[in-house]
This record gives sequence, C-alpha cells and structure tokens, in this order.
Amino acid sequence: MNRADPASSSALDRVLVLEMVRVTEAAAIAASKLIGRGDEKAADHAAVEAMRAALNELPMDGTVVIGEGERDEAPMLYIGEKVGSAQGSGPGIDIALDPLEGTTITAHGGPNALAVLAIADRGCLLNAPDTYMQKLAIGPGYPEGTIDLNRSATENLQAIAKAKGVEANEIIACVLDRPRHAELIAELRALGCGIKLITDGDVAGVIATADPDTGIDVYMGSGGAPEGVLAAAALRCVGGQIQGKLLFRNDDEVARARRWGIDDLDRVYTIEDMAKGDCIFAATGVTDGSLLKGVHRSKGRVTTETIVMRASSGTVRRVSTEHYKLGTQRSL
Ligand code: FBP
Repeated sequence: MNRADPASSSALDRVLVLEMVRVTEAAAIAASKLIGRGDEKAADHAAVEAMRAALNELPMDGTVVIGEGERDEAPMLYIGEKVGSAQGSGPGIDIALDPLEGTTITAHGGPNALAVLAIADRGCLLNAPDTYMQKLAIGPGYPEGTIDLNRSATENLQAIAKAKGVEANEIIACVLDRPRHAELIAELRALGCGIKLITDGDVAGVIATADPDTGIDVYMGSGGAPEGVLAAAALRCVGGQIQGKLLFRNDDEVARARRWGIDDLDRVYTIEDMAKGDCIFAATGVTDGSLLKGVHRSKGRVTTETIVMRASSGTVRRVSTEHYKLGTQRSL
C-alpha cells in the first residue's frame, strides 16, 4: 500500500470529508437536469456553477490547480481561482476538479458520467496542462514496479498477468474507444486479453481497476492529463498504481506545458508525482455507471450516490443521499 502517513500534519484536517460530498452532489444534481438533452455545454455550465457555489461556502483557503481551463478561457473555476470563504486563514488547499467528467455522456444519456473533485495540501497535486496524457493504471495489491510506461503494452500485460498469477489472455484491459488506440487494441487482441472499450470517462475507467466487481485489471491509453491527476488522487487512497506521460500535439501545447513549469517533456509521472501527501477524492454519479448510481429523480425527491476516499486513513465511503424538495431545496 502506498498510503500517506496518518500522523503527518495536513490542512485537510480542517475540511470534513462530508463537505466534499456536498460539493460533488451539488454539481451532479445540477448536471442531471440536462441528461439526454443533447447540450454538452449547458450540462457542463450547470455543474460548474453549482460546484463553484458549493466550494465557496466552505471555510477553506482553496486554490483551483486543475479546473475548467486557463483564466482567459474559463470564466469560472479557472486554474488559479481562489475558492472557499477562509482565504488567507492558514495552510492552503489545492483543488483538482472536473464538475462534469463526461459531458458527451451526459448529453447523450450514456453511462458513467461523474462530478469529480480531489483536494490536497498546497503543492501536492501536479499542475497538469490541458493536454493528453498516456496512462497506465492498476488497482491495489500489486508489487511496486509491476507497471512501467517505458515498457510496451505487451510487456506490461505480461507483468500484470504474472503478478496476478494468471495467463495474459485472462487479463481485462479498459481502453477509451478512439481511432488513436487502434494499434494498442491490436496489440492487446494479439495477446488474447479482454478489452472493455469505453466511449468516454477515463476517470471512472481508471478507478474501475480498483473495484474487483468490474473485472478490469488495467487501464491503458491516452486521455486528458487533468483527468489523469484526478484518477491518481483516487488510486492513492486505495493503494493502486498509475503512471502518466504528457503528450503534445503541437507547439502551442508544448508552450502551455512550459508555462506550467514543465521542462522535461518526456517525463513519466508516478502516482506520487501526481498526487502526494494526504488527499481526499470525491465523485458523485451523474448518470448510472459501474462505479456509482447516477442522480435519480422521483416526485418530490432526488437521490445521489457518492464515493469519497481519503489517502491518510485509507478509507473509502459510499454515501447515498436523499434530497427532498422542501424549504431551500425546492429548486432541486
Ligand atoms: P469531458 O467530460 O471533458 O468531455 O471529458 C471526457 C473524456 O472522455 C475524459 O474522460 C477523457 O480523459 C477525455 O475525454 C478523452 O479525450 P478525447 O475525447 O479527446 O479522446
């Protein structure tokens, strides 16, 4: 297990784990009104507004380090935005967030859309630029060094199979269904292993490796770098492993990374590089998925399901909440 030292001092002690649940619940409920409405932007906007309002009610000195984009391109929850009602009051907290992870999924009414948040002590989350990241992740229970992004997919699959005590063709990999993954998929098929192709939502895809019920052993392929950091925070809480390497499609993305202070463009980031120290990860389901139930509405009531994890305690809690349309909750 690769957990944080519970004895270490952390600004997170001031923030109740349950407060994080309220924040992701608010974003998920807001986005859920737009499920299946074909409007990605409206769904994202609703989630962003709700998450920002909920964060600003918390008594913390928070800074968004992974958010909706750079200040000139995102009016709310931009990178560097201060959130929380106790600015300057003590050790700061860094926040990585994706108010709606799976905008297309939500617009199409598909599975596994989430409202996601991770917090850590200042400086403990990688300030990843909004580029792609090659990712390789496994759940808990494997020896350190089982995976290595510098090795081929075949070598990694074989190492995972060996550590699990099975044949390579018994391993199940989760991969985003994208043309850019054709070669990877062909390589995995040649080994005879199972592939679960997902249309979107690789934060849930990575976390699935830590949930034995999904049957998924490994996550492979490229997706958003910010999503990689969020997934790393989740895996840290349960002792999983993830490695990531930033991918750049053009000079503009390289310049963006350099602005973020990234000099070594070929660096392989370990889980500790992406999320170190104590951290809390929370996700509320927007649409039903393998990780969480989505938001459900019935007459006078809305239900949500949230997973919230903490690295220093190694705890994973599932919170089912019933929200009744009473008093201040009338707008649900
Ligand atoms: P959005 O919610 O921002 O649409 O992201 C969904 C997602 O599937 C992520 O989970 C993933 O990391 C990324 O998009 C993959 O990017 P692309 O769709 O360009 O392959």
